[in-house]
Amino acid sequence: MDPLEQLAEALRRRLIERARDGAAAGAGSGGSLVDDVRELVDSEAPALPVDEREALTARVVRLATGLGPLEPLLADPAVDEVMVNGPGDVYVERSGRIERTGLSFGAEAELMHSIERVLAPLGRRVDEASPLCDARLPDGSRVNVVIPPLALDGPCLTIRKFRTMGFSLDDLVGNGTLPRGLADFLASCVAARAAVLVSGGTGSGKTTTLGALSGAIPDGERIVTIEDAAELRLRQRHVVRLESRPANVEGRGEVTIRQLVRNALRMRPDRIVVGEVRGAEALDMLMALNTGHEGSLTTVHANSPEDALRRVETLALMAGLGLPHRAVREQVAGALDLVIHQARAADGSRRVESVAEVVRAPGGAGTRELYRLRRGRPLWRPPGGGELAARLELVGAAA
Ligand SMILES: Nc1ncnc2c1ncn2[C@@H]1O[C@H](COP(=O)(O)OP(=O)(O)OP(=O)(O)O)[C@@H](O)[C@H]1O
Ligand SMILES: [Mg+2]
Repeated sequence: MDPLEQLAEALRRRLIERARDGAAAGAGSGGSLVDDVRELVDSEAPALPVDEREALTARVVRLATGLGPLEPLLADPAVDEVMVNGPGDVYVERSGRIERTGLSFGAEAELMHSIERVLAPLGRRVDEASPLCDARLPDGSRVNVVIPPLALDGPCLTIRKFRTMGFSLDDLVGNGTLPRGLADFLASCVAARAAVLVSGGTGSGKTTTLGALSGAIPDGERIVTIEDAAELRLRQRHVVRLESRPANVEGRGEVTIRQLVRNALRMRPDRIVVGEVRGAEALDMLMALNTGHEGSLTTVHANSPEDALRRVETLALMAGLGLPHRAVREQVAGALDLVIHQARAADGSRRVESVAEVVRAPGGAGTRELYRLRRGRPLWRPPGGGELAARLELVGAAA
């Protein structure tokens, strides 16, 4: 550590002590962090020239707010995900591949400090009583924290970095996620207000594809997005972004995706884009889609298009306890038009593996495959059995 670094670290500790004493005395400092640090630097290092004091101030602020040794990873545009499994083990995902970095934190306490520094300004915290936490950084990156005793080898921190430039459909064609013809077909389905479900496993690129598809929503429509941790960045101007909220430390104040979906219906939406259905909101979405709110887009965690429909059905059934199974199946068949299934290959690349239209089958909803990747070769047939063909015909899109 160079002397300036050492001084900066010492000042950071002083800053924390002062903040703690201030909080104990019931007084906030009132000023901004930068002002507080500048004042501290002025009083502790008055002999330094002005420009060095400014540099020192900037350094202390970075130490006090940043993620310490992780900062260079967060600044590296090639890194998509940062994974810390305890103080000694830091991994990153670069271009779809997971690599171990040589980085580490000095001790578990240092890692905990970094985690606290990240969560505190967001009004969140983790401790033994609530050892799990989800949060979003000011830049949009998604953070998850699990600490002992749940995490056995020390605090775990996972950061999905926010891409300032999301992928467009063209980008996804460019990197081989799907062929051009399929991308054009999906774009016309979205424009024709088909209700689209993107399915896949964890990290398979569902949210990314959802964002790319939303680019095909015509300008001039009013879009409401609903997410747990806002990741979507839509290109359109007229977008209202809503984010759910977990309960606070006292267990109060929770606002669920379901409540936001219900609320969105009163906001005169042309489209509702839900980041992921994983709970009771499935039922509300189905009902909305069946009562004129067409063209919604969402994702679900599933292993195939068929499985995706079953999953939505199950979630809706659990939400509407007492609703006959048959009625819920009817809702699914009537509400959804298209399922896009995607997967992450062993080499880290993401591929659209299968696209299916939703058709009415005896007793509920079924899928009819339109596109499949078999041994690297695309197989394709036009829609026919469901409502999708009619929808496309209505807008004059070639299927
Ligand atoms: N088609 C793609 N090509 C290359 N990289 C991609 C692609 N789709 C997603 N990624 C990268 O993979 C990571 C995960 O993507 P994404 O968040 O879209 O997945 P997900 O299925 O929504 O994940 P989760 O299950 O955690 O919600 C991101 O870092 C993203 O940049
Ligand atoms: Mg996602």
